[in-house]
Amino acid sequence: MVFTIMVFEYLLLLFQVVVYKNKMKICCIGAGYVGGPTMAVIALKCPDIEVAVVDISVPRIAAWNSDQLPIYEPGLDGVVKECRGRNLFFSTDVEKHVREADIVFVSVNTPTKTRGLGAGKAADLTYWESAARMIADVSKSDKIVVEKSTVPVKTAEAIEKILTHNSKGIKFQILSNPEFLAEGTAIQDLFNPDRVLIGGRETPEGNKAVQALKEVYAHWVPEERILTTNLWSAELSKLAANAFLAQRISSVNAMSALCEATGADVTQVSYAVGKDTRIGPKFLNASVGFGGSCFQKDILNLVYICECNGLPEVAEYWKQVIKINDYQKNRFVNRVVSSMFNTVSNKKIAILGFAFKKDTGDTRETPAIDVCKGLLGDKARLSIYDPQVTEDQVQRDLSMNKFDWDHPLHLQPMSPTTVKQVSCVWDAYEATKDAHGICILTEWDEFKKLDFKRIYDNMQKPAFVFDGRNIVNADELREIGFIVYSIGKPLDPWLKDMPAVA
Ligand code: UDX
Ligand code: UDX
Repeated sequence: MVFTIMVFEYLLLLFQVVVYKNKMKICCIGAGYVGGPTMAVIALKCPDIEVAVVDISVPRIAAWNSDQLPIYEPGLDGVVKECRGRNLFFSTDVEKHVREADIVFVSVNTPTKTRGLGAGKAADLTYWESAARMIADVSKSDKIVVEKSTVPVKTAEAIEKILTHNSKGIKFQILSNPEFLAEGTAIQDLFNPDRVLIGGRETPEGNKAVQALKEVYAHWVPEERILTTNLWSAELSKLAANAFLAQRISSVNAMSALCEATGADVTQVSYAVGKDTRIGPKFLNASVGFGGSCFQKDILNLVYICECNGLPEVAEYWKQVIKINDYQKNRFVNRVVSSMFNTVSNKKIAILGFAFKKDTGDTRETPAIDVCKGLLGDKARLSIYDPQVTEDQVQRDLSMNKFDWDHPLHLQPMSPTTVKQVSCVWDAYEATKDAHGICILTEWDEFKKLDFKRIYDNMQKPAFVFDGRNIVNADELREIGFIVYSIGKPLDPWLKDMPAVA
């Protein structure tokens, strides 16, 4: 009997070893907005693959292992709950998981350089480089290394050199697999991507690596949507896609200024323009400006690459997309100040929304930062409400220097002082109480349903609404008594005599 049990246990162990050995292992370095959701979806869709997400940040990994995930993303909780502990693991043991992996995704920060060559434009690849050196250091078997961070074109070449010069005979294949998910809709985008792009070396080993990654995505993405290219095309496509998207917003925002000057309505104009099937209706919403971790950074990268390749005209062309975005944010601040008798000094201004778009708590490069800094420059008092952004985050954002956000949390340079004229509250009614004006900076659905009559009654008069996302019904608000500014819409008579020159 004992013998039978022993044989059975031995067979079970053997079976586990075989299955365990055959199970593909993926490791992702960087448990952020990109790495976390992407790996969670891979784990969900590929139960036969073991996925480990690793990060140097202990609190971030602890949060991924708790009920309070470190990022707010609709649908993410459900996916993580289903796979965590099954074939999805979050860990700070970076080296162990890298060593065991067949495929290593790298999704670490790639901040814009603030000093030295290319300062203000070029990407700082310090984190990437140290990740590559560590991979080379700890590896004992061949690996596919996948670029998931947005990086300048030709980064793969540099990484490849680091890996091969330190390889100790181990073979590395580097692939570029840029991420196209948008925050707020990340899970949907990952479930049903327009395309998955995989770039690799055009060699037999390169093709084999591309094929291996393609098989991962083929678990749920139709084959015709998995595009394969050479390395440089994949890297450049990411920058180009983001530059095109941002360019559409800057184009419509440029039109919004002209609409205000002429009496046209930007919503009507963009609707009419978008009806042309060659143009299409998406990404034509005028706004206070685009934000987010990618658009500005990617365009700055693109500009720098153009300059380095002796293409100043092309660089200048793309630079303009950022200039219009800055112009739009300035224009908004100037509208606020000039409408309110040219001063907001000591006036309470309610800021509704601080995240860079709805359905996320992410504040990276949010236009709210520049708008708030502009108003604070004119000595306003700000009362901020955003359903997903904490006071601590707002304070960090308002006291940090430009570009300092793109580092792991514990390495972000911080000013020791808080911005005193700013308070954060957890309710739009509280934020607007006794305020002189309201700035709507994020298009949260709940702002559309606010009781504006109640808000009006509790505000100083004249009461102003500056809608940076065109979400309120301006006519209804004017009937209540508000003076309303909506981006790119025919101007309120009050604003007509107060031109806002940026
Ligand atoms: C990241 C980069 O920020 C962006 O530049 C790139 O284009 C895509 O990858 P995201 O996931 O949104 O995007 O960033 P973030 O949420 O900041 O996550 C990066 C994570 O990497 C952080 O959790 C950080 O702690 C981690 N990290 C960074 C490491 O684990 N090791 C490092 O050496 C550096
Ligand atoms: C973007 C890209 O869409 C995505 O493919 C890439 O992987 C990362 O960068 P994200 O930054 O998450 O995604 O959000 P996105 O929906 O593109 O919005 C970016 C900014 O543009 C937001 O501030 C948004 O409010 C603004 N925007 C968007 C407009 O002002 N008007 C629009 O019509 C659309």
